[in-house]
Amino acid sequence: VPDERLLHELREIVGAEHVLTEADVRAPFERDWTGRFGGPCTCAVRPSAAREVAAGVRAGAGAHVPIVAQGGNTGLVGGGVPGPSGRPPVVLSATRLDGLGEVDADARQVTVGAGVVLADLQEHAGAAGLAVAVDFAARGSATVGGMIATNAGGIHVMAHGSMRAQVVGLEAVLADGTTISRLSGLTKDNTGYDLSQLLVGSEGTLAVVTAARLRLVEAAVHATAALIGFDDVTDAVAAVRTLRGDVTGIHAAELLFDGGLRLVCEQFGLAPPLPRPAAAYLLVEAAGRTDVTDALAAAIEHLGVAPERTAVAVDAAGRHRLWQYRELLTSAISATAVPHKFDVTVPVSRLAAFVPAVESAVARVAGGVQVVVFGHVADGNLHVNVSGPPPDDEAVDDVVLGEVARFGGSISAEHGIGRAKARWLHLSRSPAEIAAMQAIKRALDPGGVLNPGVLLADLTTS
Ligand code: MLT
Ligand code: ZN
Repeated sequence: VPDERLLHELREIVGAEHVLTEADVRAPFERDWTGRFGGPCTCAVRPSAAREVAAGVRAGAGAHVPIVAQGGNTGLVGGGVPGPSGRPPVVLSATRLDGLGEVDADARQVTVGAGVVLADLQEHAGAAGLAVAVDFAARGSATVGGMIATNAGGIHVMAHGSMRAQVVGLEAVLADGTTISRLSGLTKDNTGYDLSQLLVGSEGTLAVVTAARLRLVEAAVHATAALIGFDDVTDAVAAVRTLRGDVTGIHAAELLFDGGLRLVCEQFGLAPPLPRPAAAYLLVEAAGRTDVTDALAAAIEHLGVAPERTAVAVDAAGRHRLWQYRELLTSAISATAVPHKFDVTVPVSRLAAFVPAVESAVARVAGGVQVVVFGHVADGNLHVNVSGPPPDDEAVDDVVLGEVARFGGSISAEHGIGRAKARWLHLSRSPAEIAAMQAIKRALDPGGVLNPGVLLADLTTS
């Protein structure tokens, strides 16, 4: 039964047209991009300013209705959508917090609203001759707030670090409706606990991020991409080490396999990139102020790779063509089934051994399933996608994450814990660390209002 008093309060705060209660209008806010996670919400609310977020959080807390912050809803672990049970939350959509501040070229920084879409931010920074260091395929819908909440990674972490490294300071609303703000852009600021960094990766459980002061990087003048075929993943991993040593400005090194590449070609009607298939592929890109195409070509020759096993692209259209084989993987995988998605890290030195090990582990518990692996090699980050088991069947999750722990890895490299992996947090965090995280959660959100069931499942209060 909708809480009429709460709905009335929310309408007063954001305007009636921004409190969405009809089932079909609510629906897109209630299920995640994968289709695997979701649940009903009381309503979706679209505030346009931090003070509206603060009032909305206070209203929700006062009514004991949980608050789930949501950005572009491109998350892959159920962290930005309601859970299947408990009191239906208010979804606070950040999409109208879309202010783009003027780029500060001296500081190489910009202040933006949490609802700004990554692609728009990239364009904005580009117009000022700068660039956003974090990039990934969902750039057309993912928002800054979600990228902060998950500490998003992507294709350039090897060069610039993840979202955390781009955050100079944040503005955010705490569970009691208080607003904290560090948007002055001071990069040297040793005045106690770094609350902004505490919120990065906190997955909406400690505060609702409303704005961010972000670091920008120099925009590249030239970029060259190369797709290289290898007989096995060991050679591909070794090649990344050689290429990084030989060529300056390598900012992406993506691994894909023949099965995944075929799937993309089938789903999207693309021709294969090389005359003959290879077992494993590396998509590398180098960028900078000078053209490194010759250096990259020489380095690939140095690897001993036959010319017909390499496709090189120097212009934007050619690079886009090569990147499609990598960037369409996520959509190709989801086109036919709801996958179980894993974004794990293992030590780079064990990455090649992990691939067959995780495939065998999956085969032990689920026969006849489709396993598609790809990843960001230099970070030891692999995406394991298993299609076939029903969404609620967690046997595959159990063995994949168990295998990650056995390899000394992390159960989340970039997507976060969300609802998907809360049960397995102990595989990557010690009891002492989890206790400290729970203490922080209790201190900042004693009523368990913000995103219950996400990250720290045990603390669910509703
Ligand atoms: C990617 O690297 O493309 C993203 O992490 C998305 C995914 O894992 O499907
Ligand atoms: Zn990724």
